[in-house]
Amino acid sequence: MTDPPAVTPLLLDVDTGIDDSLALLYAAGSPDAEIVAVTCVGGNVDARQVAENTRAVLELAGRDDIEVALGRETPLVRPLVTTPETHGPKGIGYAVLPPPRRPLSERHAADLIVAEARRRPGQVTLVTLGPATNLAVAVLREPELPLLLRRWVLMGGSYRSPGNTAPTTEWNVSVDPDAMKVALTAFSAPDVVARREAAGLPALPLALGLDVTERAKLLPERVAAIARRAGSRPDPARRGAEAGAARAGSAAPASAPSAATHPVIRFVEDALRFYMEFHSRYDGFYGAFVHDPLAVAAALDPALVRSEELAVDVELGGTLTTGETVTDWRRAWGRPPTLAVAVEVDVATFFDRLVERIGTLAARIGPG
Ligand code: BDR
Ligand code: CA
Repeated sequence: MTDPPAVTPLLLDVDTGIDDSLALLYAAGSPDAEIVAVTCVGGNVDARQVAENTRAVLELAGRDDIEVALGRETPLVRPLVTTPETHGPKGIGYAVLPPPRRPLSERHAADLIVAEARRRPGQVTLVTLGPATNLAVAVLREPELPLLLRRWVLMGGSYRSPGNTAPTTEWNVSVDPDAMKVALTAFSAPDVVARREAAGLPALPLALGLDVTERAKLLPERVAAIARRAGSRPDPARRGAEAGAARAGSAAPASAPSAATHPVIRFVEDALRFYMEFHSRYDGFYGAFVHDPLAVAAALDPALVRSEELAVDVELGGTLTTGETVTDWRRAWGRPPTLAVAVEVDVATFFDRLVERIGTLAARIGPG
């Protein structure tokens, strides 16, 4: 297999979303990433709000040069369900950002994905951080897409751990299971896998499901470390209260807007406060799973995870399990593998990079 390039061209498909925002900041702060463009899909919030949030976050990061395209606004065949209780009414928690200045791209997300993959065959890594709807549309428009991308890396699925939406389902797949099925079928077709192998490309898409992303628990101490790295003036009283609550595993401390001097840090603190309150209510700790930045980190450096090649399929007709990523751990089907499923992750290195990259980006932007 060819080595990953020193600078990885990334297409990010997002449903921004608090952890999608952090993923955008992570990518913007990564010297080994070239953000080719960002495409938007409905998921955590509706697609138009996703497009607003995405452009606003990129502008906060000083990246108003990046093309942002709107994609499909509803799942392939089901109605869109959003999750304001997880990400806030607008998808960025308690944070408030100025309206974006840069207009949306005139290209549709699916056309953009196809065009950029065709422009640089075998080079671009597509990272999907929301439902796979745009990717499914892209694959239906260009069946050769799985051969044109360097790799598809996805945050999605729950392979050996409980779900976070229904007992066995993960949010991104459960919002549009039909799209996941279309994309997975296209990328794992035997002739595609064989041709990718022959071209020296990673044979299968890399999936980061809840099995690994729920090991990436961001605690308030780490948010304080990002602020310190940025040189943002700290707010020790509030951070102390948060850290105390995290240690005690207690409910969230009283909510107070961030007083950080640096706008990127203010955004991170205000967005994450909402997400941490959510996790405190539903997951028993004051902190947050940062699913999406982990997927971007693994796309840039696949050595952060160990994966197993497994036959995975998507349940579409269950009475209790629609959207489940059914995984043949014991090879009972005798089918060829369809996904490289991440099963272990180097969480410490990931968090060091998160602190370093977002902290350095925040320092570069400076105080407001
Ligand atoms: C995924 O669902 C969304 O709410 C998050 O942004 C993440 O992409 C985790 O299940
Ligand atoms: Ca997401």
